[in-house]
Amino acid sequence: MLSLKDIRLDLPEKENLINGVSLDIAPGKLTVITGPNGGGKTSIAKLIAGIYTPTAGSITLDDEDITSMSVTERANKGIAYAFQVPVSFKGVTVRKLMSISAGNDMSEMKMCRILEKVGLCARDYMDRDMDSRLSGGEMKRIEIATVLARPAKYILFDEPEAGIDLWSFASLIDAFEKLKKDEDRALLIISHQERILDIADDIVVISDGVIARKGSRDEVMPTLSQGGARAYCPRGKEMF
Ligand SMILES: Nc1ncnc2c1ncn2[C@@H]1O[C@H](COP(=O)(O)OP(=O)(O)OP(=O)(O)O)[C@@H](O)[C@H]1O
Ligand SMILES: [Mg+2]
Repeated sequence: MLSLKDIRLDLPEKENLINGVSLDIAPGKLTVITGPNGGGKTSIAKLIAGIYTPTAGSITLDDEDITSMSVTERANKGIAYAFQVPVSFKGVTVRKLMSISAGNDMSEMKMCRILEKVGLCARDYMDRDMDSRLSGGEMKRIEIATVLARPAKYILFDEPEAGIDLWSFASLIDAFEKLKKDEDRALLIISHQERILDIADDIVVISDGVIARKGSRDEVMPTLSQGGARAYCPRGKEMF
């Protein structure tokens, strides 16, 4: 279990970015975080991955306190994070990046299977550099593939739908559905996409740095469709 306990985050340029978030992310489940732009979703993913250190509160992984661990230490503990905006690596091929992610010399066949899951023809991409000559959608898909290649227990995807065409998106949903059946792995996806919300076990709505709603998909989905954007407003704001 990955647990966030009363997490707060103040940055020099932004106070109260996260303002008391407690969350349990359990293996064998797909948890989807949604909510309005600027609500704090990516910041929560960065707190989990170790890119940000909380100002207060604690993060535990299978009962071990990882609050002050570095990104690398957390990655070694089994946390994998696919960025909202992928990072480019000049001079590093897709093949190399996939091997680094897998932690071994991944077989060509396995690499092909993973690239296929994100809708890429492996032959065309394996030896290309992961740099800005790739299109936005290609970068995003390769980024997702590198995370799928990792034998991680806790997997975070930040808006995997962004820039992905409809055809590739269908096979991506399929890959997520397969992953969530794995009892040993926890899947956390940040998304605004109804098709991803539809396959969630639990949904968490983040707005203004706090949890506005949290519960099973059946509990939270109706509140999203009824109120539209208004359902995102946290308690105490004008809509409640
Ligand atoms: N390093 C930073 N310094 C200052 N402000 C920041 C920083 N990182 C994030 N913010 C601000 O904090 C708020 C939350 O940002 P965050 O990226 O977590 O939102 P989000 O919920 O992921 O939004 P989106 O749906 O647009 O991706 C935003 O107002 C953003 O401008
Ligand atoms: Mg974001």
